Amino acid sequence: MLKGKHVLLGVTGSIAAYKIANLASMLVKLNADVHVIMTKNAEQFISPVTFETLTGNKVIDDTFERNSGYHVAHIAMAAEADVVLIAPATANVIAKLAHGIADDMLTSTMLACTSPILLSPAMNTHMYENQVTQENMEKLKSLGYQLIEPASGYLACGDTGKGKMPEPEVLLDCILQEIACEKDMTGKKVLVTAGPTREAIDPVRYITNHSTGKMGYAIAENAARRGAEVTLVSGPVQIAKPRFVRTIDVTSAEEMYQAVEKEFDSQDIIVMAAAVADYRPEVVAENKIKKSDGQMSISLERTKDILGTFAHKKTKQFICGFSMETENMLENSKAKLKKKNLDMIVANNLKVAGAGFGTDTNIVTVITEESCEELPIMKKEEVAGAIFDRILNKL
Ligand code: CTP
Repeated sequence: MLKGKHVLLGVTGSIAAYKIANLASMLVKLNADVHVIMTKNAEQFISPVTFETLTGNKVIDDTFERNSGYHVAHIAMAAEADVVLIAPATANVIAKLAHGIADDMLTSTMLACTSPILLSPAMNTHMYENQVTQENMEKLKSLGYQLIEPASGYLACGDTGKGKMPEPEVLLDCILQEIACEKDMTGKKVLVTAGPTREAIDPVRYITNHSTGKMGYAIAENAARRGAEVTLVSGPVQIAKPRFVRTIDVTSAEEMYQAVEKEFDSQDIIVMAAAVADYRPEVVAENKIKKSDGQMSISLERTKDILGTFAHKKTKQFICGFSMETENMLENSKAKLKKKNLDMIVANNLKVAGAGFGTDTNIVTVITEESCEELPIMKKEEVAGAIFDRILNKL
C-alpha cells in the first residue's frame, strides 16, 4: 500500500518511544521506506539498533554524523520524506519547534522540511496542560503542523489524565490518511451505509443478518483517504470506526432510512453497502407475537427500500448499491439496477468462497447500464478502491 513512499519518524525522549518500534514494523510491512531520526534523550528509552533492524535504514541522531549516507543529511532527509511523524513528541521538542530552534538532528531537519508533519504529543498531564505547552501547540497548528490528540489514561509517571500517546494503530491511520491515496476525491461529499440492521420483535429479540460492516467501512475509509468528506450511516457492528469519517449510528432500517433522508440532498456520491433486514415484525408495540404449544409466530412486513426510494429521488447524486445473491447473480443484479434506478450495482455471490459476509476478501462484479466487469478476488479495502476508481470514471 505504501510502496515508493518515504516515511520519516522522529522519536524523542518519552517512555512511549518503545511503541514506535511496532509502528515502524507495520509501516515496513506495508512496503514503506522508513527512516528514523532520534534525539539523544530518545536513546535512553529505546536503542537505535531496534529501528535499524526493523527498517533496514541507519538511524540518524547527530547532525554532524559523517557516515549518514547522505550528502547533507538534515536537508536530504527533509526533502525525501512524503510525510513526517514525530511520535512521541515531548514538551521540550514541541517548544523548540514552535520557536525555530534547530540544535539537533531532528529539529534541524524539521526546519528544512516542506512535507506534512504530524505530531503526537506524549507527556505528563500537567506538562501537557501547562499554558506554555498549550501555546506552543497552538502556534505549531497555525503553522500547519497536524497535532494528534493524546489519549487519556494511566500514565507511566503514575498520574492518570491526558497525555498518553495513542496506540501505534492510530498513528498508522493518521499516516495512511495523509499518504496512502492520491487525493482524487477532494471536494466530494460521500454517504455510505454499512452493517446490518436490527428489527425488534419485542424488547428482547430481534431479526438481523450476518453483516459485519467490513465492506462498507472499507468503502468509507477509502473515500476519506482520497480526500472526500464522508458520512457513514452504520448499523450495529463490532469493528472500529474509521477515524476520518463522520459516523451516524443507527439500529433499525427505519432509523437508517431517516439518517439517509437527512443527509441525502447534500451528497455527491452514495454507496449503500448495508445489509438492511428485508423484513420486520409488523407492529412491535401491540405485540403481535403468538405463542402456543412451543410455537411462536409473528407477522412480518417489508422494511422500506432505502436504496430504491432515494435512487428514485436523485438529482445530482451518483448512486451505487450492492446486491447479495445466492443464485442468478447477474440477472437479478441487472434487474435491481434498473428497477431501483441505480447508476451502479456491485454484485456478490454469497455462495463463492472468499466473498460475502465476515470475510476480509470479496469477489464482486461491477455492473452499470453499459458494462459488467467481474473483478478478481481482492481484500475488501482493494475492492473499495476499485469501486471508487470506476465511479470517478463515470462522473
Ligand atoms: N437495501 C436498502 N433497503 C432495504 C433493503 C436493501 O437500501 N430495505 C439496499 C442494500 O443496502 C443494498 C441493496 O439494497 O445496497 C440490495 O440489497 P438486497 O438485499 O440484495 O436487495 P433487496 O432489494 O432487499 O432484494 P431481495 O432481498 O429481494 O433480493
